[in-house]
Parts: sequence; structure tokens; C-alpha cells
Amino acid sequence: MSGMHELAPDRRLTPLDRLLQQADLGLRAALGRPHAQRPNPAADLDGHLADAGERRHVAGLIRVDHAGEVAAQGLYHGQALTARRPEIREAMNRAAREEGDHLAWCRDRLDELGDRPSLLGPLWYAGSVLIGAIAGAAGDRWSLGFMAETERQVEGHLDDHLARLPPGDARSRAILEQMKADEIGHAEAALAAGGSELPGPVRRLMTLASRVMTGTAYRL
Ligand SMILES: [Fe+2]
Ligand SMILES: [Fe+2]
Repeated sequence: MSGMHELAPDRRLTPLDRLLQQADLGLRAALGRPHAQRPNPAADLDGHLADAGERRHVAGLIRVDHAGEVAAQGLYHGQALTARRPEIREAMNRAAREEGDHLAWCRDRLDELGDRPSLLGPLWYAGSVLIGAIAGAAGDRWSLGFMAETERQVEGHLDDHLARLPPGDARSRAILEQMKADEIGHAEAALAAGGSELPGPVRRLMTLASRVMTGTAYRL
């Protein structure tokens, strides 16, 4: 096993051990500072926002994106928990690790803006683990389909946020654009791995759930 924090199915663990392990993962994702594997796409771009209201607005958007990435960690970890095939479990854990860059970059930008992540991060994580575990239990094809749909919806959010960023904020723009490119790749990979297209009502339920989260995390 690598030294990364992830869920290794260890039969010696009691259910309580597993719960604590999961809570630890969640707190790290929601409140911790993951170390990015790739350089921050904002590099030395300009992102100074003189206006306090504008800074707050951008921080609200980035906080939503950060919360979305916390939720993504929860979904992947939940899907890993109930995955049927070991390679799918490994793919879910790998996806979660790769998304760590997004968490780190959003966190960096929030710091620069003098703001903070969503206070409800642990809640976003816990709810997402549950939803991910249900998706995983439905079977690997559905789980991969769920992954593809999640990534597509995140891509949509990022597009919306890119349109709402102040023109002068090249730093946030570079980060969100790189995230969007990554999410498109993740969706394609999930479909290529055999993901099934989800039924319309499930997709709409997912949209609804993400709307609750994005609406709340902008402020909280
Ligand atoms: Fe992401
Ligand atoms: Fe992704």
C-alpha cells in the first residue's frame, strides 16, 4: 500500500475502526491542506482584486468549488467502499488522490483572498460518502456512470463560475480552467471504463443535491 491516506480494505478492522478511518479522511479533505502534485496553474498571473465586495464574491465562488471538491472526495471514497472489483476500487481511490490538486489550488486561492473554506465541509463529505456508497453498491457500471455524470455537472458549474469571475482575476480563471479540463478528462475516462448513462431522474436528483450544496457553500 502506498503512504497516501486512503481506504485499504483490511479485514482486521472493526466497523468502528473503519468509521474512524473514514472520518479522518473526511476531516483531512474538508479542513486539511492537501499537498498539490502539480504546480498551481495561477503561477505568477495577476489576481489582485482591489474591491472588497468583488473579493468576497470571488471567494464565494471558489468556496463553492472547494466544497464541490470536498464532496468529490467523499463520493470517490464512498464508491471505493462498495466497489465490486478491486480495480474499480483502486480507480476510485486514484481519482480521489488526483482531485487533491483541485482541493489544494482552491484552498490557495481562498487564502490569497483572505477567506476560508465552507464551514460545512465535514457535512458535504459525510453526505457524499453515503451517496457514493449507494452508487458503488448499485454495481460498477452504474458507479462509473455516476462518476461521469458527477464530472459533467462539475464542469457545468465551473463554466458558470468562469463566466461570473471579474475579468481582472486571471488567477482564479487559470485554476478553474485547469480544473475544468481535468474534469472533462475524468468524465471521458469513466465512460471509457464502461460507465452506463444514468437514468434522467437520477441525474435530476444529483442536480438538485448539488444545487443545495452550491447555494449554501457560497456563504457558509
Ligand atoms: Fe475536481
Ligand atoms: Fe474530477
